[in-house]
Amino acid sequence: MPRNVLISGGCGFVGSHLVDRLLRRDDLQKLVVVDNLWTGSRDNIAHVADPRLSLRIADAESFAADERFDEILHLASPASPVWYMREPARTIRANIGGALNLLSLLRPGGRFCFASTSEVYGDPMVSPQPESYRGAVDCTGPRSSYDESKRCTEALLFEEQRVSGLDVRVVRLFNTYGPRTRIDDGRAVSNFVSQALTTGVLTVYGDGSQSRSWGYVDDIVDGLERFFWRDGIEHKGPLNLGNNREISVVDIAKFVCSLVPGSRIEHYPPVPQDPTNRCPDLTLAKRLLPGWEATTGYEEGILRTFEWFRRQIAGGGKSAATS
Ligand SMILES: NC(=O)c1ccc[n+]([C@@H]2O[C@H](COP(=O)([O-])OP(=O)(O)OC[C@H]3O[C@@H](n4cnc5c(N)ncnc54)[C@H](O)[C@@H]3O)[C@@H](O)[C@H]2O)c1
Repeated sequence: MPRNVLISGGCGFVGSHLVDRLLRRDDLQKLVVVDNLWTGSRDNIAHVADPRLSLRIADAESFAADERFDEILHLASPASPVWYMREPARTIRANIGGALNLLSLLRPGGRFCFASTSEVYGDPMVSPQPESYRGAVDCTGPRSSYDESKRCTEALLFEEQRVSGLDVRVVRLFNTYGPRTRIDDGRAVSNFVSQALTTGVLTVYGDGSQSRSWGYVDDIVDGLERFFWRDGIEHKGPLNLGNNREISVVDIAKFVCSLVPGSRIEHYPPVPQDPTNRCPDLTLAKRLLPGWEATTGYEEGILRTFEWFRRQIAGGGKSAATS
C-alpha cells in the first residue's frame, strides 16, 4: 500500500540519513520533511533529486497540513548539549510540543516513531543500561530540558498507546556520530575532528575518563530502518540502539590526534552533570533485529567522519552531503 510519510528533523544529522533510507522504499509515495533549520541544514538533503520529497521549513510544534500521514517519524530536537542547553524552552517545545502537534497529523491507525535517547537514563547507576532501567535524571539540572522532554514524550506516546491503541515505535539512541554533523555541533567526535583540522587543539572536559559507546551513523540507521518500518516488529519500544563498545572520551581524542601530526589535547573543567558512563544493553535489539549489530569500529567510523569534515572545511562547509 502506498505510504505518505512525514519526518521532522529530516535536515539534521541522523534525520538526513534516514531520509536517504526512506527514499529507497518502493511503497513510499510521498515524503515530507518538516524542519526549522535550527541545528540542521538544507545541504544535508541537497543531494536528493526525488520528486517524492518535499521540504517544509517550519516548527514541528506548529506545522499544519490538510493531509494526514500514514507514518510520522519525530526527530526534531537538537541532540548536542551545547545547543539544547542554550535554548531549553525551545528544546522542550520541539520534543513535547512537536509530538503533540504531529500526532494530530497522523491518520487513524497510522504509526508514530520517536527518536528518544540514552539520556533518559541520566547518570546511570547500572552498566550496561537495559530498557527496564528507570534512570537517574535530575529534573532541576542543566540537561533537564532535553532529558525530561524526551522522558515526557515517551510517556505521552506510551499513554496514548494504552488509552487509544496508538501504534508507536520508540527508540533510545546512544551516542551517534558520522558525516553531516555540524562543524560547530559541540559533541565529542565532531568537536575533536573539527578542532584537529582547524586549531590543532582538542578540548577534553575533565580528565576524559568518562566513557561512551560510539555508534557510527550507518549502523544506527540500519537498526532504525528495521525497527521503524522494515521488519514488521510488533514491539512498541523502548528499544536501545547503539554500539556497546565502551571507549573513554580521552581515547577518542587521542585517536583523532594521531590523524593530524602536531595536534594536541587540552583539558578543561568538567561539564556539569556529564554522565560518567553510557553503554547500551543490546539484548533486546539483538533478539528483535536478528543479525543487526553496530559493526563499525570507532577507528574506521572516525576516519570516514574525518574525511567528510576535511572536505567540508576545504569547501567552506558548503559541499553537498553526498557521503
Ligand atoms: N545523534 C545522537 O547521538 C543522538 C542520540 C540520542 C538521540 N538522538 C535524537 O535523534 C534526533 C536527531 O538527532 P541529531 O543528532 O540528528 O540532531 P540534529 O541537531 O543534527 O538534528 C535535529 C534536527 O531537528 C531540527 N529541529 C529542531 N527543533 C525543531 C523544531 N522545533 N521543528 C522542526 N525542526 C526542528 C533541526 O533543525 C535539525 O535539522 C533528535 O531527536 C535527538 O534527540 C540523537
